[in-house]
Amino acid sequence: MRVMVLGAGGMLGHDLVATAPPDVTLFPFSRTQLDITQHDAVAATLGDVRPEVVINAAGYTAVDRAESESQEAVRVNGAAVGGLGRMARQTGARLIHFSSDYVFDGQATEPYSEESLRHPINAYGTSKLAGETVLQASGAQYLIVRTQWLFGVHGKSFPRTMWERARAGRATQVVRDQTGRPTYAPDLAAAVWTLIRKSACGVMHVANQGEATWFDVAAHVFARAGRPDLLTPCATADYPTRARRPRYSVLDTARAEGVLGGPLPKWEDAVERFLSSPL
Ligand SMILES: NC(=O)c1ccc[n+]([C@@H]2O[C@H](COP(=O)([O-])OP(=O)(O)OC[C@H]3O[C@@H](n4cnc5c(N)ncnc54)[C@H](OP(=O)(O)O)[C@@H]3O)[C@@H](O)[C@H]2O)c1
Repeated sequence: MRVMVLGAGGMLGHDLVATAPPDVTLFPFSRTQLDITQHDAVAATLGDVRPEVVINAAGYTAVDRAESESQEAVRVNGAAVGGLGRMARQTGARLIHFSSDYVFDGQATEPYSEESLRHPINAYGTSKLAGETVLQASGAQYLIVRTQWLFGVHGKSFPRTMWERARAGRATQVVRDQTGRPTYAPDLAAAVWTLIRKSACGVMHVANQGEATWFDVAAHVFARAGRPDLLTPCATADYPTRARRPRYSVLDTARAEGVLGGPLPKWEDAVERFLSSPL
């Protein structure tokens, strides 16, 4: 199977490349090799590579900066995704795309299903919703994988920051009133390859098992570093950020579990594996 990976230099892109099954012929492109907003370049590359599957791991992911760069966020996460969808339809390629729990407003009290009402509360979420909408209208055969709270070895992430702070002996306050599902990029990547092999399509939520607050994740990391004394909880109101965050954005992953044959590993197990890898 010929598979093209866009955004291959990003956190998830790296792990998609690293976990590709042996029967896949990979064509990875980082941003410098192929910019997804450059329609003609993407069309020409699709013509050369002739992939059966295109995985779009590229995205504008700076959640707070998006508040002042909303047009750029929509250009990358919205308009460019629509272009990819239309090109995929024309070439007959299947398009795998990633979206976010930030398409939801976080007012729920139980996990969000794939059909829950989308209502983003920040500019990044709005741009991700735009991407979903244009891809769904493109006529392409698509799989939209919504995921959340990603962390991995190849990029900045919350567990990494917590590990560095704990090791540096820095007192740290972390919010205890936002709840989600921390998700390890290699676990997500492996699940995505299975979903591709099983020709999954439509929208699917994929995340590690369990739910947590950011404080829970930090507590796990600080305990592992032997410095639980450095950590104290706080409220979102005490830690203002430019972008508002959903209060509760746990994704219901039952649909993907049905296809995958079970849940992804627990987030605590995933954080352990992350901390055991060379950081
Ligand atoms: N991280 C999370 O918690 C999270 C949660 C839910 C969903 N997602 C989604 O998962 C996907 C992958 O995210 P990630 O965490 O791996 O983010 P990431 O590490 O920031 O990777 C995104 C990659 O896309 C590249 N990129 C940006 N604009 C591009 C363009 N115009 N053309 C080609 N490449 C471009 C970036 O390059 P530069 O670094 O050079 O800008 C970067 O390498 C995104 O769709 C994201 O929205 C992420």
